[in-house]
Amino acid sequence: MQIFSGSTNKSLAQKIAKELDFPLGKVELSEFPNHELRIWVKEKKVDKEVAVVQSFAGDPNKAIIEFCLLVDALRRCGAHHIHAIIPWMGYCIQDKIFRPGEALSARVVADIIQAVKPTTIITVDLHNDSIQGFFSIPMVHLSATPLFIEYVKKNNSVDCVVAPDVGALKETTRIAHVLDLPLVIVNKKRDLKTGEVTIVSVSGEIMGKRALIMDDFISTGGTLVQTVNYLKDKGVKKTMVAVTHHLFVEGVQKKLAKSALDEFHITDTNEMPEEAKGTRLKPHIMSVSGIIAEALREL
Ligand code: R5P
Repeated sequence: MQIFSGSTNKSLAQKIAKELDFPLGKVELSEFPNHELRIWVKEKKVDKEVAVVQSFAGDPNKAIIEFCLLVDALRRCGAHHIHAIIPWMGYCIQDKIFRPGEALSARVVADIIQAVKPTTIITVDLHNDSIQGFFSIPMVHLSATPLFIEYVKKNNSVDCVVAPDVGALKETTRIAHVLDLPLVIVNKKRDLKTGEVTIVSVSGEIMGKRALIMDDFISTGGTLVQTVNYLKDKGVKKTMVAVTHHLFVEGVQKKLAKSALDEFHITDTNEMPEEAKGTRLKPHIMSVSGIIAEALREL
């Protein structure tokens, strides 16, 4: 099976191909002067079964179109089974209509993806499990939390698990149970207009503890910065953050570096841009390539 990559996460595509000992197909990605994208599959022979890796990050709108064009080009080159590996499903945050007049954007994007008819979708830690219901093609929904759990078990570095909001409650309750640690719940408020995050209260014993804050993604960094600073003010000894998807929004890495964050763990569902590399806070990056390769093997 050849693996093809869009432009957003080539390093992950390379790692997946290496894990499976599959070749990485050649593709030329370019842009017309009017900003239309152009895809050219440069393989003489395209396998009947292929996989396409593309995270809907960086510029998610461009990433989605690029993905659709690549799937279409591969089908026209003879691929029958096209497995779409979308490590970060951009737009999955917009899984509800929060205010009357808004679009159900996650549903619209699901329809766009399905218009080019991939055979299967493999994705990691969707913002909400129920988004799977927007798709009518088979989906493999993977979780990166076993990577974090293994790390914590090995390093014995945590005294409590923190849910930074109610949305994280289900997963953090499960993780606290697996690690046999107490759960601390943060009551957070977000202004829908400005996006500003305020921490209202925290329930649970935190004084002198080493806290593991777990979340599915970082966008503006507001949730994590406010949470770690609040916890430190309330006497937490060490703050360790584990998040599956860092969206690498411009300036956020610098913002996190200025916070009271002590240890920062993420995965490689999104590629770190150059701008984020120079900051004082170096994230420890755990690769999802192994779990994705395993899922591909089992298809
Ligand atoms: C909330 O439901 C999410 O799981 C994240 O906690 C959050 O919204 C991340 O966004 P930001 O980094 O902008 O606070």
